[in-house]
Amino acid sequence: MDTQNLVARLNSSGLLRSQCLIGGKWTEAYDGKTIPVHNPATGDVLVNVPCMGGQETNDAISVAYEAFLSWSKLTAAERSKRLRKWYDLLMANKEELGQIITLEQGKPLKEAIGEVNYGAAFIEFSAEEAKRIYGDIIPSPLADRRLLVLKQPVGVVGAITPWNFPLAMITRKVGPALACGCTVVIKPSELTPLTALAAAELALQAGIPPGAVNVVFGNAPEIGDALLASRQVRKITFTGSTAVGKKLMAGAAQTVKKVSLELGGNAPCIIFDDADLEVAVRGALGTKFRNSGQTCVCANRILVQEGIYEKFAIAFSQAVQSMQVGEGFTEGVVQGPLINEAAVQKVESFVKDAVSKGAKVLLGGKRHSLGMTFYEPTVIGDIKNEMLIARNEVFGPVAPLLRFKTEEEAIRIANDTDAGLAAYVFTENVQRMWRVSEALEYGLVGVNEGLVSTEVAPFGGVKESGLGREGSKYGMDEFLEMKYVCLGNMSSS
Ligand code: SIN
Repeated sequence: MDTQNLVARLNSSGLLRSQCLIGGKWTEAYDGKTIPVHNPATGDVLVNVPCMGGQETNDAISVAYEAFLSWSKLTAAERSKRLRKWYDLLMANKEELGQIITLEQGKPLKEAIGEVNYGAAFIEFSAEEAKRIYGDIIPSPLADRRLLVLKQPVGVVGAITPWNFPLAMITRKVGPALACGCTVVIKPSELTPLTALAAAELALQAGIPPGAVNVVFGNAPEIGDALLASRQVRKITFTGSTAVGKKLMAGAAQTVKKVSLELGGNAPCIIFDDADLEVAVRGALGTKFRNSGQTCVCANRILVQEGIYEKFAIAFSQAVQSMQVGEGFTEGVVQGPLINEAAVQKVESFVKDAVSKGAKVLLGGKRHSLGMTFYEPTVIGDIKNEMLIARNEVFGPVAPLLRFKTEEEAIRIANDTDAGLAAYVFTENVQRMWRVSEALEYGLVGVNEGLVSTEVAPFGGVKESGLGREGSKYGMDEFLEMKYVCLGNMSSS
């Protein structure tokens, strides 16, 4: 793929924006500072984008607040119509959006277009759900009173999003926020801002009014501080690391904002002796190697019962070996590069630690011969739950296999972590499916299935994996306040 040609083509389509968006205006940093956006597969600079800070963020918050006053007053039907139009535009441009995702994030084009479908679905769902934000009437204990519950938009939302899903993590937040009547200041990752800008361009084209969706990025700590300190920002929604999530939660306390956090995981994937081997291999492969292992719900520890361990290790390693690694535009590639050098070094250090403590590399275990940030799809056996790789999210294409004897032991190991986002169970025993699903301290459980994310189901974690839920009807509440109205002097006689 000739990247420069593609960039030029995307440029002429009007989707490759390289300025931030404040109040409907494409804007440079006030001091003219820029930062480069790289293609992780080649290291090439794709474009230079503004490096904004606190001042620009405060202006974005002000215009978002102005826009909130009118956007929140539109009828739900009107907001719904514009969101639907945004969805239609995202789908009409899915090829170009997929190309932008592959260029700046690295995932294979087919997977990138899959992300566009997934991301757009949150906008479609929000357009539908906008019309279903019901209040309530409570039977009054007093004859002359009527008690009502209204659901109202929380206000301006600060949405801080990661690089691993440059579109879907934005739409999963911004869709419901807009549907509820909120306006947003998005701070996408500086590693993948181009998808955010393209999505914002399409939002403008869809008739989402100027100021309702703003995008700023650059100096992340300054932008974060401005969002946290503002009294006009009433909600922070974040996907990213647990460490940053904790800081945001503490910072939001200054002005007692609502907070939702979708943080790191340490997903166990438990394969019982009574699992269907083929289903288990396919499921574990899907959850482990999606986005080259760079998702919060990727299996981080594959727990395999002793009776099936050898058979599973062989079949799984064969399946992993067949995965083609390469640049995301190459036909047949299913594993792209890691996002940057720091990500590869983290993977390397975890593998080194595991091997030094007795683990055995069954496949891969080193950088790929393609160079750059490519890493070989890797399977490591004889992992112990005390090893670095089992305690922390590896966020890379490394599958650690842990051997266990009993169901109780598997549950104990699975829950022995501060994280609680996703877990997976493979078994053909129906009683066990229920028992283990109920015993796992996780927000999401996939049973005989490695890919569970969908716009219609609640996504989120327990323990240090976060607060709140995204997607589904439950995700709407995160952007709403409940107001109780008591009508007095209502007796009819
Ligand atoms: C994430 O990695 O944070 C999101 C994954 C998903 O939506 O499936």
